[in-house]
Amino acid sequence: MRVLLIAMLTWIACNAGAQAQAQAQAQAPSHTGPAASVSSPDGRIRITISIDGEGWAQYTVGRDDKPLIAPSRLGFRFTDQDGFGRNTRLVGTKTARHNAHWELPWGERRRVTDNHNELLVDLVSPGGSDAMSDNRADRPIAVRVRAFDNGIGFRYEFSARAGGKPWRIADELTEFVIAAPGTAWWIQAGDWNRYEYLYHQTPVEEISTAHTPMTVRMADGTHLAFHEAALVDYAAMWLQRVDGRRFRATLSPSSQGSKVERSGAFTTPWRTIRIADNAGGLYDNDLELNLNEPNTLGNVSWFTPHKYVGVWWQMHLETASWSSGPKHGATNANVRRHIDFAAEHGFRGVLVEGWNVGWDGNWFGNGRDFDFARSYPDFDLPALAGYARPKGVHLIGHHETGGNIAVYEAGLDAALALYARHGVDAVKTGYVADAGAIIAPGDAPGEQRIEWHDGQRMAQHHLRVVKAAAAARIAINPHEPIKDTGLRRTYPNWVSREGARGGEYQAWGTPGNGPAHVPTLVFTRMLAGPMDYTPGVLSLKGRGGRDLESTIARELALYVVLYSPIQMVADVPENLEKYPRELAFIKQVPTDWAETRVLSGEVGDFAIIARQDRNGPDWYLGGVTDENARNTIIDLSFLPKGTRWRAHIWRDGDAADYRTAARHDITIEQRMLTPADRLDIRMVPGGGFAIRLEKIG
Ligand code: NOJ
Ligand code: CA
Repeated sequence: MRVLLIAMLTWIACNAGAQAQAQAQAQAPSHTGPAASVSSPDGRIRITISIDGEGWAQYTVGRDDKPLIAPSRLGFRFTDQDGFGRNTRLVGTKTARHNAHWELPWGERRRVTDNHNELLVDLVSPGGSDAMSDNRADRPIAVRVRAFDNGIGFRYEFSARAGGKPWRIADELTEFVIAAPGTAWWIQAGDWNRYEYLYHQTPVEEISTAHTPMTVRMADGTHLAFHEAALVDYAAMWLQRVDGRRFRATLSPSSQGSKVERSGAFTTPWRTIRIADNAGGLYDNDLELNLNEPNTLGNVSWFTPHKYVGVWWQMHLETASWSSGPKHGATNANVRRHIDFAAEHGFRGVLVEGWNVGWDGNWFGNGRDFDFARSYPDFDLPALAGYARPKGVHLIGHHETGGNIAVYEAGLDAALALYARHGVDAVKTGYVADAGAIIAPGDAPGEQRIEWHDGQRMAQHHLRVVKAAAAARIAINPHEPIKDTGLRRTYPNWVSREGARGGEYQAWGTPGNGPAHVPTLVFTRMLAGPMDYTPGVLSLKGRGGRDLESTIARELALYVVLYSPIQMVADVPENLEKYPRELAFIKQVPTDWAETRVLSGEVGDFAIIARQDRNGPDWYLGGVTDENARNTIIDLSFLPKGTRWRAHIWRDGDAADYRTAARHDITIEQRMLTPADRLDIRMVPGGGFAIRLEKIG
C-alpha cells in the first residue's frame, strides 16, 4: 500500500521591510517515498505528487478536500531517447516556505504579495533501452511545486543531459484532468496562427485544443484558469483534450525535429492553475507574476505609462493607407496634426504606422520588403520628432514585420538605434502573417524556416527584441504576439501586447467583437496581463460607416476594465473633437494604478472593476455588460471609512442600446458619496459606465 508522506513545512515568519524585498526561505528535512504533498498557506489547497500503478509520476490538486484535478500524469517524449514516463521513481522531496512582498514598477497594483509553500520532488527515470539511446544511466528530473492561496504552479527542472547532448523534446506529456464538469471559455489552438478569435463557451467535454489562459467554472462555482508562467526559450503550451475532461499539454510546433531543444540544465515554464470562488478572484490574482523571476532591468523609470493617439484608425477605416501614394497616412502634415492634437489634450504619444518603406507590396504575406530604418519621402522622422519634443509629445515607433523575423532580426539593432536617436521610446511591433506562418532565418545564409507564432523560436525572438529594446531604453508592445506569461516582471519594458481580438475588429471584423467579448476577455485573455485593445472610438463608427457594437459610455469604461499601461485613444482627431464631454474622461483616466479590485463580474456576462490612481487618491470604476441590460448596485465599502467623494459619472443614457442609433445617448452627472453609500447604475444592452471618484475629504 502506498504510504502518503505529507511534507512537513517549516514556518519562518517573514519581515517585509519598507522596500518589501524581504525573503524568507526555510528548508525542511528531506523525505523519500512514493508520494508527497504540499498545501497552500491557508491550508485549503493541496497538491500531491505520487507514482501511479504503471510507474508514471502523477499529481492531484484539491481544495477543502474536494478534488479539482484528478490524477494527471507528468512526463515527456523525446526525439532521440526514451521518454520520461513508466517506471519513474520518486527519490526525494524538499520543502520551503516563502512570504514576501515586491513592487511592480507599473501595473494594476503597486504591491504584490508572494505567499506560498514549495515542494521540490526529485524523480528518476530509468535509462534508455532502445537502440537509439546513448544514455543508459538513470536520468534525474525534478518537479518544483508551489501552492498559493489562490492557485498552484509547477515546473520541471532538467539536469544537463549525460554525454553533453542537448535535450530534444518531442512533446510534453503533462496532463490536466478536470475533476468535475464545468463550463469553459476558450479559443482554439493550432488552427490559425494567432489568438484573434471570439471565445467559445462550451462544456469542458466539448473543448478541442485550446490556448491558455483557459477559464473553467465548475458546477459548484469554483473557477479555474489554466495557463503558464515564464515562457522562456520553450514552446508555448496548448491544452489538447484527449478524452472526457482529460487534457494533455501539446507544445506549439517547430520546423525542427523536436519542439524544444535545450542544452545543459534548464527549467520549463511553470504550468499554472488559478483557483478562486468566483470570476473576480481569478482576475485579482498575481499567480503568474509571482512565478516569474524578479526585474532584471533595474530602475525602469525611463518608461512612462501613457495614453497615445495614432495615425492608425484612418488606415483601418481605409480613409488613409499604410502604403505610399495619394492616400498615404504617414505624411508630415498628417503626423503634425496628430502631434498638435496630442499636445492640446495632454496625450504623451503619437503612434505612426506606414512611415517606413515596405508597405507597397504583399506585406502581410511575406514581409520581405520592410526596411525599418528608411522612411517614405513624405515622412521626415528627425523633423517630426523635433516638432513633437518641445510640446511634450513623443512619437511611438512601429515595426510591422509581416511575420518575417529573418528580415526583422537582421535590421533590429539599426532600427532601434534610429528610434533611440530621435527620442522614440516606445515601439509597437507586429507579426501579421496572413500567408500562414513566421519566416525565420535558418543556420545557413539565406536559409529560411517556417515557424509557428508561439513556438520555441518565437519565444526566443520576442525576448531578443525586448532585451535589445531595453538596452536602448525602449518599451515594446507587440501585436500578433506570443501570449503573455508574466515576463513583464522580469523585463518591465515589455509593457503591453495584443494577443486577442482587439478594437480593430470593431472596424472591419466579420463578425465584430459583439457585446460579450469584453466581459469574456476580462476573465480569460486579461488574466495573462496587459492588452493593447485600442479603445476610444467615440464616433462609434468603423469602416464604411458601420456601427460599433458598443455605447459611448462603454467606450470610456474600456480604459478601466481592460488594463494596459499604454492606452490608445483610437479614433481620428476630428471625431474625438466632437465629443469633448466624453474626451474629458479619457484625458483624466490614469494608466498606472496603486490598487485594483474586481467589484463584481461573471465570465462573459459583465465586469465591474475599481482601480486607484497610482499618483493620487482618486478611484476609477468601469463596468461593461454583454447584450443584456443590468442594474448594478456598487458597494463602496472598499473606500476608507470617514472619507468623502465626488463621483463624476458617465453612464448609458436611458435610450442607449448597442443595436440602435441611440448608442451615443449618455448621462453625465455628479453625486456626493461616502463609503456607506451604494451606487446604482444601469448598463443598457452592450453598454457600460465610467466613474471617477474624486476624493474631497
Ligand atoms: C494588425 C495590428 O493589430 C494593427 O494594429 C496594425 O495596424 C496592423 N496589423 C498593421 O501593422
Ligand atoms: Ca491584430
